Amino acid sequence: MSVSLQEEAAVDFVLALRRRWADTVYPHLRAEFDAASADEPGASEPLAARVRGLPTYGWFAWLERGSQKMLWRAVGDHVASQTMADRDRPAQGALELDPDLVLPRWYTDWDIHLQPGGVWSSTLSAHVYELGAKLVMMGENDDYRFHRLFCETAIAPRPYRRIVDLGCGFGKSTWPLKQAWPAAEVIGVDLAAPCLQRAAEHVMAKGLDIRFRQADAAATGLEARSADLVTSTMLIHEIPMEHLPALFAEAARLAAPGAALAFLDFQPTGDAFRDFAIQEHGARNNEPYMAPMMAADLVSMAQAAGFRNVRWAAFDERGAGDLGAPVWPRRSEWHFPWAVLHGERGA
Ligand SMILES: C[S@@+](CC[C@H](N)C(=O)[O-])C[C@H]1O[C@@H](n2cnc3c(N)ncnc32)[C@H](O)[C@@H]1O
Repeated sequence: MSVSLQEEAAVDFVLALRRRWADTVYPHLRAEFDAASADEPGASEPLAARVRGLPTYGWFAWLERGSQKMLWRAVGDHVASQTMADRDRPAQGALELDPDLVLPRWYTDWDIHLQPGGVWSSTLSAHVYELGAKLVMMGENDDYRFHRLFCETAIAPRPYRRIVDLGCGFGKSTWPLKQAWPAAEVIGVDLAAPCLQRAAEHVMAKGLDIRFRQADAAATGLEARSADLVTSTMLIHEIPMEHLPALFAEAARLAAPGAALAFLDFQPTGDAFRDFAIQEHGARNNEPYMAPMMAADLVSMAQAAGFRNVRWAAFDERGAGDLGAPVWPRRSEWHFPWAVLHGERGA
């Protein structure tokens, strides 16, 4: 893959901008907030108004959305300039595409993460998403360490016969499952055909036997009570509240008695400033379902679907992974409040 100096410069610029936004502008805004709160300890103004009134807020907010747009521009230009011989390769391997599937409007109406055309609209979109996702993680997921950490620390180390990974994207959450449990049948499910095509290419190159199936995670068409582990990573904040009960019902339908559930996503940390920043991140990053998901009682929702021992645990992607309790490490820079929803299928 050849990269022109201009493309390299564009990607380097966006990455550096995003790093400074996270490790310099965000802490600066926080310091302004803390100073203002110390000056007016009993301030009656709502937190949102107090943060939005701070001198650095305009820069912080603009840079968050503006740098994300720049990222897709840089990545899109780069991907478009590559001659990828495999770009239009027909479906092969264990790839189950559904030509009759109608993508829901709530999925297609938003350019998720501000990616033009989302992850589903063209073959290129999966390549663009893949490179963009790497940059969005700002080096935290090189070699897909994040997803390996999820397998190693958030999932009980016991044998599994069938694992279903809901919302698998281009497979980076799915292939570590197969690598960790080579004897298990592993199935990745996603709505986006381009992502599944890319996932199939990846696992063929890696020599891994994984099925990829195009379906709504809330209606997979897979056999009932057939899975002993149901996972998702970064899926549930992309689903509108009114559809989440159907997703949990499908996970419960797929799960055999005693099967494990592990959904990795985001949760409020109890740090009001940080929680407000992530809530606004969802809005600025075209992730409209993130804030309602974070405000919802998903423990009760999972219990109502038939899971027991349901609990959230913080996930420290830069440290020990699953921390076993909803207590997040404190860091000065902006970072996602990762969390894992655990449960077990009742009899
Ligand atoms: C942020 S990506 C996460 C991909 C992967 N799990 C990971 O960790 O990198 C979310 C994925 O969920 C998919 N998705 C969103 N809603 C879905 C649904 N209802 N059913 C199946 N897939 C869905 C999107 O197409 C996208 O590929």
